[in-house]
This record gives sequence, structure tokens and C-alpha cells, in this order.
Amino acid sequence: MNMYDRIPNNVNLDKDPRLQRALEKWLPNYLDWWREMGPVGFQEKDVYLRTAVSVEPDGWAHYDYVKMPDYRWGIFLAPPEPEAKIGFGDNYGKPAYQEVPGEFRNPLRRIIVTQGDTEPASVEQQRQLGGACPSLYDLRNLFQVNVEEGRHLWAMVYLLHGYFGRDGREEAEELLRRRSGDLDKPRILQAFNQPCDDWLNFYCFTMFTDRDGKYQLCALAESGFEPLARTCKFMLTEEAYHMFVGEAGVGRVVRRSAQLMKESRNGDARELGGVPLDVIQKYVNFWYSYSLDLFGGEVSSNSADFFAAGLKGRYRERELFEDHVAADGVLKIEVVENDQVKSREAPLRNALNDVLRGEYAKDCERGLARWNKILADEGVAERLYLPSRRFHRRVGEYAKHRFDVHGAQISRDEFERRASEWLPTALDREYVRSLMTPVSERGKIANWIAPPPTGTNHQPFDFEYVRS
Ligand SMILES: [Fe+2]
Ligand SMILES: [Fe+2]
Repeated sequence: MNMYDRIPNNVNLDKDPRLQRALEKWLPNYLDWWREMGPVGFQEKDVYLRTAVSVEPDGWAHYDYVKMPDYRWGIFLAPPEPEAKIGFGDNYGKPAYQEVPGEFRNPLRRIIVTQGDTEPASVEQQRQLGGACPSLYDLRNLFQVNVEEGRHLWAMVYLLHGYFGRDGREEAEELLRRRSGDLDKPRILQAFNQPCDDWLNFYCFTMFTDRDGKYQLCALAESGFEPLARTCKFMLTEEAYHMFVGEAGVGRVVRRSAQLMKESRNGDARELGGVPLDVIQKYVNFWYSYSLDLFGGEVSSNSADFFAAGLKGRYRERELFEDHVAADGVLKIEVVENDQVKSREAPLRNALNDVLRGEYAKDCERGLARWNKILADEGVAERLYLPSRRFHRRVGEYAKHRFDVHGAQISRDEFERRASEWLPTALDREYVRSLMTPVSERGKIANWIAPPPTGTNHQPFDFEYVRS
């Protein structure tokens, strides 16, 4: 089998023997990692998966039965823009970097490694879920997300091998050595070390944490380092599906809970084996707050440096802004000074993490509104909400202080006392896990979740998405 067969690509891999050899050496290590840390128990099953075969709108969505280790993880970049320019920062308007600019080599490598590390991490977090799937439809969705995260790792490893030489190759090996949640070799970002061991966690993770991925990729798709921009543009097409899985998944749990609340004499979904809305709310609080951390500090010199260098732009930099240099604007940021929340002016470039976080929060709000519409349609009065951006933060301005879900500052003691109102307790998690007995009969679905309105790729819900 030649390399082109094994690694589908649109980067002319066959014309670059050095890169081809490097990836050839990395491939078996990747497969070892996949077999060791990928989905448990389903490696030899035929799964109805979509594979990227080209970047054309109609070409890439090819569906067929595949065993996951045989998935064609490829390298696809969006087509190059003729005469691409750096779109922002101090070098605005100059030709885009086609090679790594020497003076920005370290920050650029760090950006790519940090993004790359999240991809295998999420596969590791989700590896046990197959054994507790609510339906074959959901099982397929999980595996689709998993193999695409594997492909995202390939995308970042391609950049490391292709543009960073020896230290890039070493970083690529490290990406396979760290392990989600491991005490000695954890993944880089904390959201990716949290357990994701039940399906409500999975849906919240794909809703909130994959959505962080979308905003990071959007900012990197603006990058003046063109290979990175083109890589991220194509990854975004896959990311959209992951967020669909999350938002629709939580929505289906919400719908089913509302139905069970109405059926139960006491209005309690738990009585009939559903997930109570207050438990769903705690999961939302948990994953939303961890995902907010992924944007970094509210006031950040890194964000200013990345922007100045033309490495990481703003969300939809080209369309939404006129001033792409942003050298002298200021923004009001809420910071904690002398133990009190105060509004302070920060140079715009230093506030870009928070600007991106704001776009992300708006997007999450739209999801919450759709879940609340489901509750309204089902005739249930309760509503879900997003907690304050200050709540339960581990990174940035609010990390050293404690806030309730409304954003009011409280003491550490009060937070400890009331944490079980806001965040999943061991008992909540145990209860949710207790519901997750696997349902893998065609057309059947677990009691705690509503079926999807349609199947995948025009197939019916009772299609055999994973062959037994
Ligand atoms: Fe990803
Ligand atoms: Fe994703």
C-alpha cells in the first residue's frame, strides 16, 4: 500500500519525500495510541462513518461502513488564497507567512501544540462511553466525533512535521504521550483532564468545549501563517457537526426530562428514570465554566503578542472589523482589585481573549434559548440558564475569588457550603451513570433521552449505524 492510499491528502504529500517519511514514522505510533486510548470495545465493529475525501463541498462527505482503526485519517487544507495577506496586527497587509517566521517560531509552535493536544485528549475522555450508549444512532455519532478529533490531531501534526523540523517531530510524539487526567503526564488544558464518563457529560462537552474549539479555530483561521489558517478552515467544517451532536443531545435529554416530569405524579423526572433539570443545570455550569477558562486570562499579554505578530486574529476579523491594526483602542474589562469587582480599561490587544470569550458566550446563549424553547413547547415552567462568567473559574481574573452563579462575590466558605447546589455532586454523577445501561438494538432508545427527529445522512433512526 503506498502512502497516498494510507493518508488521503490534498497537500501533495507524494511530492515531499521528507515529510512523507516523517508521517510514515508517526502513523504506527498514532495507531498504537488509537488502539490503546481510543474507543473501548468497538475497534473491530463496522461503523457507518463519514470520511473526508476532499475539501470540495460535495466531495468530503463520503459515508460507508468502516472499522475505526481503518479510518482514512487525512490531511486536508482549504484551498490557498491567491496572494494571501496578513489580515491584522503590526504586519497587516504584508504577504502571508508561507514558512514559520523565525521571530515567532516559539509562540506559533505553542499555539499549534496547545490546539493539537485537545484533539487526542477528547478521544481519551470519551473512550468508555460506547459501552453505555443510548442508541445505535448516538453510538455512531460518538465514534464520528472521535475519528474526526483523530483527524484534527493529524492536521496539527502535519503542521508540526511540515514546518518545524526536529522539535516539531518531538512535539508530535509528545502529543501521543500525554494522557487525559494523568497525574504525571496530563493534557495541557484543564477542561481536557476532566472525566467525561457519562452521556450527559458527553453532550455538554460537545456543546460547550467543542464550541470553544470552534472559536479558537475561527481565530486561527485568520492567521497570517497561511498553512495554519487553511488547516483550521477545513477543521471548522467538522467542528460544526460536533457542536450539533452536543446541542441536539442536551436538547433531547431536556425534552425527555420534561415529558417524564409531566408523566410523574410529583413532577419529578427522577421518579420515572429521567435526568432532573437541576442536574442538567449543574452539568451546564460545570462544562461552561471549564470551557470559559480555555480562552485564557481576561487581560493577557499573550493575546496582545499573538495579535501583533499576525498569528491569532479576532473572530471573523475580516468581516466584522475595519481597523485591523487595533493598536490604540481600549476596552472596559471587569477585574478584581482589592477584593472587589471593578471596571478597568485595558488596551484592546490585551483584552482579545475576553472579546473572543464574549462571542462564545453569545453563541452558548443561543443554544440555551433553544433548550428553553423545548421546555416551553413541552409545557414545563422551569428554565435553564448560563451561569455568570465569573462563576467557578480556574483561569484569569476571577480564579482567585469565589462567585455564585449570578456573579455575586461570596466567601470561600459559602462557596464550599453551596457548591453542591451548583456543580454535579458525586451522587448526581452516580445517578446519571446509573441510567446509562446500553441500548444497542436497532431502532430502540434509552428511556432518559428523546429520539432524534431524523437519522444520519438520510438514513432512518432504526438504521444499523453500528453493525454487531
Ligand atoms: Fe477537534
Ligand atoms: Fe470537536
